[in-house]
Amino acid sequence: MRNILVTGGAGFIGSNFIRFLLAKEAPLNIYNLDLLTYAGSLENLKDLPEDGRHHFIQGDICDSDLVKNLMKEIDFDTVVHFAAESHVDRSIFNPGQFIQTNIVGTFNLLEAARTVWLAEPAVLNNKRFHHVSTDEVFGALQPGDPAFNENTPYSPRSPYSASKASSDHLVRAYYHTYHLPVTISNCTNNYGPYQFPEKLIPLMILNALEGKPLPVYGDGLQVRDWLYVEDHCEAIYRILQNGKIGQTYAIGGNNQPGNIEIIETICAILDQLQPDSIHVPHNKLIKYVTDRPGHDRRYAMNIDFIHQELGWSPAKDLKSGLYETVLWYLNHPDWVGAIRNRGDYAQWMQSNYTRR
Ligand code: NAD
Ligand code: TYD
Repeated sequence: MRNILVTGGAGFIGSNFIRFLLAKEAPLNIYNLDLLTYAGSLENLKDLPEDGRHHFIQGDICDSDLVKNLMKEIDFDTVVHFAAESHVDRSIFNPGQFIQTNIVGTFNLLEAARTVWLAEPAVLNNKRFHHVSTDEVFGALQPGDPAFNENTPYSPRSPYSASKASSDHLVRAYYHTYHLPVTISNCTNNYGPYQFPEKLIPLMILNALEGKPLPVYGDGLQVRDWLYVEDHCEAIYRILQNGKIGQTYAIGGNNQPGNIEIIETICAILDQLQPDSIHVPHNKLIKYVTDRPGHDRRYAMNIDFIHQELGWSPAKDLKSGLYETVLWYLNHPDWVGAIRNRGDYAQWMQSNYTRR
């Protein structure tokens, strides 16, 4: 029986990863450590199989005693670290929380692994600490620049990406200094079921359904490299299975449309799925608003290395992924209602608009 510690497993990607893992492998125990911030919710875990393999622990990765005691109590062979503050706009208005969670929280996990795992070097062969990171640590590309890869120098430009970059550096430092068995993945923008509706795709879907404005920052020609969340889960799984200790893997979707194209596509899908809505055509709701400060123009990832090493490439194309995602939000009104009614969602949306 394997024991896996997943941090941030009540968030968007973490909850998808736990669902993916439970479907994939039979004999394992998943311990899901999550603080349940505004971004985490037990609603994301409601449909997991009830077979005793998933154990939820509400707790803070910034609490060093809690993390250390947990690692002492349970003989984890694997840590998959998702927990983070993850929204760039929030990092602009409240950077301090990003420093705490993303840097101090990651440091606590590394320290716990160092203290507990390295006390018995003989067991290290069976241990793995996987750190989930972002392409945003590499900075911004201009049109025509080659895509990022594993060797691109770090150049973060927002408090979010700077805090994630710091956490990557710490993870790499623990590998080189203490030989902690780590792997790192830097992934592009994810989308799919259970994404909190502050991020571009779910925000546009839900606003369009309610007839609210669809706020396009700046000229809407910024480019992201979109990956369906299940493809990201598969990539992490392959890294856990066959990835090389100390290695970084670049993960991306090979899908690089401009933001406005994504928004127009979502509107067209909604026109098709909700032809009787009074908001048809939904793209009449598009509203250009003041740009995000320091807005990164373009991200793109070269995924040749992970393809060659681990045989991974994205399975879902953007057109069908977006269609399925819109359908998922339409078919889960209870989830949408629960998420919208909790935390500071309404307040955040209101203040974000007011600032613009
Ligand atoms: P998310 O914001 O949806 O979820 C984050 C989760 O972490 C939440 O459940 C939250 O409650 C939990 N959390 C926050 N602070 C915590 C703390 N102090 N202690 C314990 N739990 C805490 O994020 P996501 O989109 O699922 O992203 C997961 C990871 O993947 C992050 O590390 C992010 O940087 C990285 N990533 C995200 C994307 C993306 O497009 N969403 C792309 C690449 C990498
Ligand atoms: P987001 O989902 O916040 O992810 P990230 O900033 O990490 O890439 O934003 C994706 C892109 O969409 C980014 O270029 C900012 C833009 N955007 C808007 O134009 N309007 C919005 O309301 C949001 C949330 C994002």
